[in-house]
Amino acid sequence: MALRNIRTIGDSVLNKRAREVEVVDDKIHVLVEDMLDTMYEENGVGLAAPQVGILKRIVVIDCSPEGDDPIILINPEIIETRDEQTGYEGCLSVPGKTGIVTRPNYVKVRAMDLDMNEFEIEGEELLARAFCHEIDHLDGHLYVEHVEGQLMDVDALEEQ
Ligand code: NI
Repeated sequence: MALRNIRTIGDSVLNKRAREVEVVDDKIHVLVEDMLDTMYEENGVGLAAPQVGILKRIVVIDCSPEGDDPIILINPEIIETRDEQTGYEGCLSVPGKTGIVTRPNYVKVRAMDLDMNEFEIEGEELLARAFCHEIDHLDGHLYVEHVEGQLMDVDALEEQ
């Protein structure tokens, strides 16, 4: 198990567009394993490669309470969205903060797996939110750009 340092807001790597993965080599396999370890260690539901300082279009997501296999997306693209949801969002790169963001309630993504086979995956509610949030990271965007009202301290929210 290897953990990577999570880059936080203000680090310019988070504002850059990540590049497409051309070949899944051993380095990419190690990166994906480390991203999963880091996401679970930090109790996150998703992590994008730029958050560990690597400008490649790779995302890992696990927001299932049932402990299903994590979702690994190489070069993901959103190809369909539907409806809306409004709720709290947070990010490991913006520690201790949360804010309200409106996202589509249904999202379909086309991506490649670690064997470079193309597949499509659909998500609703939290998973749809995670797809949007993580793919935004690949284009250099953080959820704080979409927050409605104020960015809040998680602690202050929990005290209410
Ligand atoms: Ni994030």
